[in-house]
Amino acid sequence: MTDSQATGSASIKGSGSIRIQPLILAAGKGTRMKSDLPKVLLQIAGKPMLGHVLDATKELNTLAPIVVTGFGSDQVQQSFPDCIFVEQTEQLGTGHAVQMAADAIPADSLVLILYGDVPLIQTETLQAVLEAASDGKLGLLTAHLQDATGYGRIVRNGEGAVTSIVEHKDASAEQLAIKEINTGILAADAKNLVKWVSALNNNNAQGEYYLTDIIAMAVADGVAIQTAHPANQTEIEGANDRAQLAELERAYQLQLAKKLMQGGTALADPNRIDIRGKLTAGKNVSIDVNCIFEGDVALSDNVTIEANCLIRNSNIGNGSHIKAFSHIEKTDIGQGVDVGPYARLREGTELADNSKIGNFVETKKTKLGKGSKINHLSYAGDTEIGENTNIGAGTITCNYDGANKHKTKIGDNVFVGSNSALVAPVELKDDSTVGAGSTITKDVEENTLALTRSKQSQIDGWKRPTKK
Ligand code: UD1
Ligand code: CA
Repeated sequence: MTDSQATGSASIKGSGSIRIQPLILAAGKGTRMKSDLPKVLLQIAGKPMLGHVLDATKELNTLAPIVVTGFGSDQVQQSFPDCIFVEQTEQLGTGHAVQMAADAIPADSLVLILYGDVPLIQTETLQAVLEAASDGKLGLLTAHLQDATGYGRIVRNGEGAVTSIVEHKDASAEQLAIKEINTGILAADAKNLVKWVSALNNNNAQGEYYLTDIIAMAVADGVAIQTAHPANQTEIEGANDRAQLAELERAYQLQLAKKLMQGGTALADPNRIDIRGKLTAGKNVSIDVNCIFEGDVALSDNVTIEANCLIRNSNIGNGSHIKAFSHIEKTDIGQGVDVGPYARLREGTELADNSKIGNFVETKKTKLGKGSKINHLSYAGDTEIGENTNIGAGTITCNYDGANKHKTKIGDNVFVGSNSALVAPVELKDDSTVGAGSTITKDVEENTLALTRSKQSQIDGWKRPTKK
């Protein structure tokens, strides 16, 4: 491809510079999904299926994609404001869907037809279809399947040239034996395409306007059909029900897992990881089973993630260790930090190098300085903690007065005894100490001990009551 970003044109081998117009068929309701959402908004890896299809076209420097919608049109449009939308109020067939888009298609373009519910199609495969369409040919993506049930079959003549597509329900016994199937993805010259779809009829087993009938029309017009093939079969698979959607999800996740492993990441089980967004990993990273990564997550070198962690939009520094069952969101973690097990780090948490968060600790908008520790059963919210400070078990920052949030500031080398409540706004200055069980409502000065627990009393010879 050449310098074509701005103009929406790309140079396809042998065809000079041509404008590519993606046309995505997405009007189907997806009845079998039994969802209130239009089918193409159902997600694979946290992204709507239609989003995956659009992403596959991005590197081709195309014109703004045209999307044919039907059921749930408004929702689809709101989700993808950069597309051009055409409504097909009645789903009368794939050929009819293309007819609806005829006015929106620039006459001098090469139209690339895709399905919104075939999400794993790859850019390289689309490139091959476009190349097949060079020199005025029609590029058709076909595949050979062991079980071709339900698909349109590719009919070839004695010389091996494609002459037509016959739909499963219209096929003769002989044609049903054909293993080469129509994926539905094709590239054709816009003027021809519009001419052909306007000539379609619905005299067939399903009473639909079949887009596939344009193949025979193209051949009759002397346009050769050049086939291309996908690199792997999941690329051409559609999702018609929840089971198929889940299968595509697993297939996609396995691809992502393999990419990670090729980059050197150790995965305990590539079948038990879920990446819903972008996960980057440095060298010598290891990830145990059942971890979920959402949004943008960056793991530096030597990071270890134990089993069953959920990590969302966070960065984890060199050598840090996230123990099992931790839940981490919008958090920045420095180097050599230990977290968990069972930690919950919420938005705005920053853990400096060599700090430590132990089990059943929740943090929110909290900075923990170098070498500081919150090891057990605590809540720190809206809190800034200095270096080498120890927050004892069961310490709670009372940051909320029922109406407003307030800040807690804790200096360097502070020691907070267990089961203390720090009522914000409050500051514990450097080198101060809080005795266990204290409720701190006033600032604690440097090098002092604050203690609010009541004095222990003693009753000698005390006898416990006995049962009457
Ligand atoms: C179609 C092809 C078939 C091919 C198969 C691959 C035709 C006639 N048949 O069959 O050769 O093997 O795909 O999966 O093209 N759509 C609309 N409007 C409509 C009908 C469909 O937008 O009126 C959309 C659907 O949302 C879907 C796509 O077009 O994304 C394909 O429709 P579908 O009903 O799945 O086509 P098939 O009958 O399976
Ligand atoms: Ca289908």
